[in-house]
Amino acid sequence: MSQAIVDKPAVAERSFQRVQQIIEECGATKSSLIPILQKVQEEYRYLPQEILAFIATALDVPPATVFGVATFYAQFSLDPKGKNIIKVCDGTACHVRGNKTIISAICKKVGLKDGEHTTSDMRWTLEKVSCLGACGLAPAVVINEQIFGRMTPEKVIAAINEIQEDDKLKVKK
Ligand code: FES
Repeated sequence: MSQAIVDKPAVAERSFQRVQQIIEECGATKSSLIPILQKVQEEYRYLPQEILAFIATALDVPPATVFGVATFYAQFSLDPKGKNIIKVCDGTACHVRGNKTIISAICKKVGLKDGEHTTSDMRWTLEKVSCLGACGLAPAVVINEQIFGRMTPEKVIAAINEIQEDDKLKVKK
């Protein structure tokens, strides 16, 4: 019996209290669906399936409607994301100026294998994105909303080191 409790997926143990709070803040109506999903994603860094179902019930809309909106907009993710998100521009200018070497350096540094986007410790997510609108600064990379231009493998590793150091300091506090 206790084994079943231990094995229960973490997802099932997630409290819906915060989600309920978000729904109350935004208003429990269908027209609030996008702001609700945005806030839930801010909270969890992605949209867990069981929370989408909870939102559908709370708003009294079919689950397919909520799922449809969540999958339609590129801003939403149904896959778990890491604490730190690195977006490497894969537009033409950045591609031509060697974004591949930057991607390789990031993967090696944080321990991502081919085809993986998020590290198993959930600390890092790597995404390739289309033109960031900073082509003059190619290759461009965004790390946790901060844009870096004329990126090099050395510079990206230094930026990751800095975040890792900050994280260690926060843990010690
Ligand atoms: S192609 Fe990378 S910023 Fe435009």
